[in-house]
This record gives sequence, C-alpha cells and structure tokens, in this order.
Amino acid sequence: MPTGNQHQISHDEFERLREFIHRHTGISLSDHKRALVCSRLAKRLRHHGLKTYTEYYYLLSQNDPEGVELMEMINAITTNKTDFFREVHHFRFLSEKFLPAFKRAAHYGGTRRMRLWSAGASTGEEPYSLAMTVLEAFPDIHDWDIKILATDIDTNVLARAEGGIYSHEQSQQIPPALLHRYFLKGMKDQEETVMVKPALKELIRFRRLNLMDSDWPMHGLFDVILCRNVIIYFDKQTQSRVVSRLGRALQPNGYLMLGHTESLYGLELGLQPIGLSMYQHTKKPLAALASIQQCT
Ligand SMILES: C[S@@+](CC[C@H](N)C(=O)[O-])C[C@H]1O[C@@H](n2cnc3c(N)ncnc32)[C@H](O)[C@@H]1O
Repeated sequence: MPTGNQHQISHDEFERLREFIHRHTGISLSDHKRALVCSRLAKRLRHHGLKTYTEYYYLLSQNDPEGVELMEMINAITTNKTDFFREVHHFRFLSEKFLPAFKRAAHYGGTRRMRLWSAGASTGEEPYSLAMTVLEAFPDIHDWDIKILATDIDTNVLARAEGGIYSHEQSQQIPPALLHRYFLKGMKDQEETVMVKPALKELIRFRRLNLMDSDWPMHGLFDVILCRNVIIYFDKQTQSRVVSRLGRALQPNGYLMLGHTESLYGLELGLQPIGLSMYQHTKKPLAALASIQQCT
C-alpha cells in the first residue's frame, strides 16, 4: 500500500513482477533487489497515476497490447553502468593480438571482412572503445569491410549511445591522444561535454536487441563478440542458453569476451577459455591458442 509518495511492494506483488521481468528480459532478481525494483518502478506508477504494484502488473500484463509500457519497464529496470575501455585487457588483446593477426592474414589472401558485436552496449562507451581500437589499427578503414554492431535491450541508453555525447568526467577514461583524435570538444554551454566524431560513429550500427528474443535478426557470423557485464544479471540456465547462442554466432576461431565476474565454468558450451574472461570458438584449439595464450 502507498504511504504518502512512497509506493511499497508486497511479497506477492514482487514475486509476480519478478517472474514477469525474468520472462521478458532474462534478468533474475533476488530478494535483496526488492527495494531497488520498488524504487526503479515507482516512477512508472507515478507516471500512470497508479497506487499499487498490483495495478501496475495488471497494466503490464493485460493492458499493454503494443508493449509500450513493457519497454518503459525494461528501461527502468536495467543496470547500465559502463565506462570507456572498461576491462582494458580485452582492448589490449584486440590491438596487440587479434587485429594485427587479422591484418597479416588478409595480406596473405585472407578475408578483409570483420564483424564485431557489442551485445549489451549500454550508453555506447564499449562500442566506441571498440571503434577507436579498430581505427587505430586500420587508419585505411575504407579499404576494409569492418563493422561494429552495438545492441541493447534498453532504448534509452541506445539513444544516448547514438547521440555520442559524454561528460568531461566520462571522457577522462579515454587516453588523451584518442580523445583528441576521435572527439570534438563542446562549445559555450556544452563546454563540459565531448562528442564522438563521425569517423567513429560510421563504424557502428546501433540496434535494439533483447538477447532473450527467439530470433536474432543478424545474418552472418561475428569475429568478436563482447557481452560483458550482461549475463551476470541472468540465472545460470539463461546464461547457458544465451552464451551457447553467442557461441553459435561466432566465426570458427572467433572470440567471446565476458565481464571479469562472469565465468563459463561448469557450462558445457564448446568454447575454449583462453584467460581473462575470453573464450575462443574453435574446432582446432591448439595451433590458434598457442599464439593467443602468450598474451594472457
Ligand atoms: C552493466 S551494462 C554493461 C555495459 C557494457 N557491456 C560494459 O561492460 O561496460 C549491462 C547492459 O546489458 C543490458 N541488458 C540487460 N538485459 C539484456 C537483454 N536481455 N538483452 C540485451 N541487453 C540486455 C542492459 O540494458 C545494460 O545496458
């Protein structure tokens, strides 16, 4: 029952919403997330002038044919923390090992097509970090067929990612030379912000994608997938399902990168761990791994 401005959630209301959220997003909320859920959804109740979470659940489950409120609920419930060059070892691996090896192979007749996917891209720091890493290695980018897909379930963060505007504080995570090369400084009342240059944006396609959707609309396989600090919010069964699908979306010998607290330990997924939360999809692990493991 509401007390003043504060909506409170009963045990049954939380259980119903928890199950609903899990079914639609894969996000698994433990009991100690109850207060968090309550505060994140309170603004949705206020928005609709609702007094209880039972009314809100009814709206979501019975009175939302277009899925408009579902989208808003998802946007409110997700945790979007991210940084530029977060878990920097992955970007180091790309710039020191993967990208030079790819380039070398291309000079010997290998493919010039590379596809990278930031799955759970949040406000864009991860795909832009990827784009800077790629552009540093491929200044002649127009001679290559390289694209980055950036997806997230949350439409608010995707819109911010596409906008490409970051605060001075956020930009401090970017090495100064890269900040200078790939960002514009804001003027007048935007002085405290930086904006991504078109050269970076052009490499990236931003799309909404729920990893729980039964169909992923992408065609073709990826050379590298970053799905970092996303599956940590899923239960083990959902993690296993999502990771095995990510594995199937990889090129042979392609790489999957997870967040440092996310482990595939105990999941039988046919992905070879190569250290630092990185996994390689390979039928012939030994030759490929020998060179890669030197960097771990
Ligand atoms: C904590 S952020 C991680 C951002 C970035 N990958 C990083 O490591 O810095 C997790 C992101 O996963 C997204 N997410 C959560 N569940 C998802 C789902 N079912 N499908 C797609 N994205 C999801 C959230 O919206 C959020 O933006």
